[in-house]
Amino acid sequence: MPFTAARGFREQPMLFVGAEGMHYIEAGGRRVLDGMAGLWCVNAGHAHPRIVEAIRTAAGQLDFVSSFRMSHPAAFTFAERLAAAAPDGLDHVFFSNSGSEAVDSALKIARAYHQARGDGRRTKLIGRAKSYHGVGFGGLSVGGIARHKRDFGPLLPEVYHLPLPHDPGRMGFSRGQPAIGAEYADALEALLAVQDPATVAAVIVEPITGSGGVYAPPKGYLERLRAICDRHGILLIFDEVITGFGRMGTCFAAQAFGVTPDILTCAKGLTNGSVPMGATIASGKIYEAFMAGPPDVVQLFHGYTYSGHPLACAAGLAALDAYQNEGIFAQAAAVAPHWEAALHALRDAPDVADIRTIGLLAAIELTPRAGAPGARGTAVADRCFADGVLVRGAGDTIVLSPPLIITPAEIDRIAEAILTALRAEA
Ligand SMILES: Cc1ncc(COP(=O)(O)O)c(C=O)c1O
Repeated sequence: MPFTAARGFREQPMLFVGAEGMHYIEAGGRRVLDGMAGLWCVNAGHAHPRIVEAIRTAAGQLDFVSSFRMSHPAAFTFAERLAAAAPDGLDHVFFSNSGSEAVDSALKIARAYHQARGDGRRTKLIGRAKSYHGVGFGGLSVGGIARHKRDFGPLLPEVYHLPLPHDPGRMGFSRGQPAIGAEYADALEALLAVQDPATVAAVIVEPITGSGGVYAPPKGYLERLRAICDRHGILLIFDEVITGFGRMGTCFAAQAFGVTPDILTCAKGLTNGSVPMGATIASGKIYEAFMAGPPDVVQLFHGYTYSGHPLACAAGLAALDAYQNEGIFAQAAAVAPHWEAALHALRDAPDVADIRTIGLLAAIELTPRAGAPGARGTAVADRCFADGVLVRGAGDTIVLSPPLIITPAEIDRIAEAILTALRAEA
């Protein structure tokens, strides 16, 4: 099983047989409040009727068609709708099946873009510490979590990493973007003083570090990264697999922060988690570079059997309808202040070392037990689950990312469960 202690799971399996709205349902009928939107996915809530119906209809109409030399209308309709929802200037979409594939597609498109322009020296990639970009060799290489890489080397050569823009001493208990720390972006300029900038293809960051522990970008940081990339002809990629589809109250975090990348990756909330799908959205400048050749030549030797799968496109279109018609992003923005207040109220609870919130994301960092890193986080998450609330224990950090339809009462319920668990584990 992915990232799971399989033997422990066998002894004590966590199994769900159903899901609805804010809840998972166990075989015995117990309902568990979902504080994670599945795995940062189910932004409109579980089993959204509009999405369920769209998948049913699509399955009976066109089960599968290849995207190699053929396609189907919904793939183009969905691409257009997605481009319209994306930041201005990002208007060309390449479909895949997961966040990992969306990221690897972005990295390949970035290199191939420079190649297409006759600038094939630009092959180096720059990621950032603590970032997670999935498990393909590309995403793993630019990712910034050492444990994920340990068993799988060698990874891609000529990949470099920026530091996490975070100083626990100065930025603790942050609410939204820290006011200080824009200067962390200057690490890119310092790196480019060592690595000839004319050999760098792209910089990839999550606008908000997600599974690495929810770290918001300091005010001005992303703007500075953007300016440095522009100065050196380097593409900027935002991995919005977590932040896409409303976490920040806007469709993408790029829109909330007012910084537009050259390429944006998304997945998860793209179909509200209902059918696997990823997308890589690129600017017109990138698209046009590929289109300069003769009409009968393949532009991009890349793609997946299930790129633009009919069921995924139907689910994605229905998810966009749900998000837009039901005002779900605005709902997230409206409830975010309550989210922030309820979680920061845990500041004085036992063993809380830091709390970070932004949009409808949060991380509660706990003091590790002596000699047993991760044990406290796991114990707290287990207690919450026993109490009927699903949170994610990532080492000693409790990570939260609920469906965006969460109510203030449900937020309070999550905070209460965490407080009770912290007291019991103190
Ligand atoms: C920012 C980011 N990128 C990429 C991925 C990988 O997505 P997937 O698990 O769908 O391959 C994830 C997964 O959590 C992610 O958070």
